[in-house]
Amino acid sequence: MVLKKKPSLMGKKIFIKTFGCQMNEYDSNRIYDAVKKIGFVKTDNREDANCYILNTCHIRDKAKEKVYHEVGRVKKLYNNKAKPILVVAGCVAQAENQEMIKREPYIDIVIGPQSYHKINQVLQNFTAKQKEEETDFDTIQKFEYFDKIKNTNNKVSSFLTIQEGCDKFCNFCVVPFTRGPEYSRPFKKIISEAEELTKNGVKEITLIGQNVNAYSFTENARTYRISDIINELENFSELKRIRYTTSHPKDMTDDLIDCYSRSKKLMPFIHLPIQSGSNKILKLMNRKHTVEDYLNVYEKLKKINSAIEFSSDFIISYPGETDQDFNDTINFVKKIKFLNSYSFIFSPRPGTKAAGLKLIDEEISKDRLTRIQKILFSYQLEKNNAFKNKLIDVLVENKIEGQNKLFGRNKYLNSVIFKGNEKNIGKVIKVKIENCNQKILFGENVNKNMRAA
Ligand code: SAM
Ligand code: SF4
Ligand code: F3S
Repeated sequence: MVLKKKPSLMGKKIFIKTFGCQMNEYDSNRIYDAVKKIGFVKTDNREDANCYILNTCHIRDKAKEKVYHEVGRVKKLYNNKAKPILVVAGCVAQAENQEMIKREPYIDIVIGPQSYHKINQVLQNFTAKQKEEETDFDTIQKFEYFDKIKNTNNKVSSFLTIQEGCDKFCNFCVVPFTRGPEYSRPFKKIISEAEELTKNGVKEITLIGQNVNAYSFTENARTYRISDIINELENFSELKRIRYTTSHPKDMTDDLIDCYSRSKKLMPFIHLPIQSGSNKILKLMNRKHTVEDYLNVYEKLKKINSAIEFSSDFIISYPGETDQDFNDTINFVKKIKFLNSYSFIFSPRPGTKAAGLKLIDEEISKDRLTRIQKILFSYQLEKNNAFKNKLIDVLVENKIEGQNKLFGRNKYLNSVIFKGNEKNIGKVIKVKIENCNQKILFGENVNKNMRAA
């Protein structure tokens, strides 16, 4: 029998559509780095791919259905063309595994977030007759594999995963099921990846993890925490800014808080989700922190630097939330005046403890969401208005396509769109804010020759 040689993947085009959080964005970039090894070339044209990856999110709503709709769109797009290898990756892939291929035969490969080290092997082995599914939790192997592959991200601002997974099991959340148990990457590997990124020209690193501030890695009897990573990055002369996300209030330990008194590069903006302003609801959610714990962290940080600003996540109408509980959340929001926020109505997720609980009436929930967002957004607008006519430091990230304008961010991660010189990409420059809305600041670079701060 003559064995048929598999077609080469050399020069084949690959496109990844990414949904969900920063973890998925980082993973998609690492997948691009990995598949280069077997000949794939990244394309930004979604209609022109030999391999099409959907990197999915399972956090809310009918995530699974959304993926099937998305597959439908790809099918239409490639109706008269050669079918691409269709891969479903990410958190829906992990949660649904081979069920997806059974339901939608257009899907060829299903691969969970902790199996990405197998992506090349799976793509090389793939034949149209033999679909593939990989959803084991091999987190250590995954990182060991990716540690050997250069991170080629050369954007001004880059994510860097330091920790994955979650052991906290909030009753509403799928993450512990889709990303698996908490795992912290070796300290030295993180530092060498950061070195690689700065060599590529990266000026801002955001350390990421589902529980980024729970980072804990022990080697030779020494335990490294996120504060150690921040302290080390502080010495990188080319690096201008350090951020981290997403933090859990319980893990805001004093060593991390102390970084804000020392570090010149750690930005004074913290995304710290509270979910609810009612202790009763926090307990029902199994959040493992109280409103007072949160306020304690808030006050410690404000004492160090009163200019530190906060953003948060809110789940509205968690089962059992009374008008009183909701009002507690409103009062909490009025106290902190968050600079940014993400608020959603509770969405039951399959497999979680809260999945079967009695839902709050839809109209009441929508009304609560509207009411809280009105307040949250009014503070956001108020804070943005305060930047008007002021000169602020902006790290310039890129030119906006089709417009003669630049995009950057201030120290609080606000998007800033402004007229300025392209030569300033990668520099921190002074921008005068002329206008704003709740989400964006608009301005002009006042001194085009100004040197990087
Ligand atoms: N680890 C972070 C923390 O402890 O807050 C959050 C990570 S989660 C990926 C991001 C946000 O999604 C959560 O803060 C929560 O507000 C929201 N979320 C998670 N599950 C949800 C659900 N079932 N319904 C509505 N929002 C949800
Ligand atoms: Fe989800 Fe809670 Fe873990 Fe955050 S801490 S990822 S909300 S289970
Ligand atoms: Fe979504 Fe998974 Fe991130 S569920 S929010 S992509 S960890």
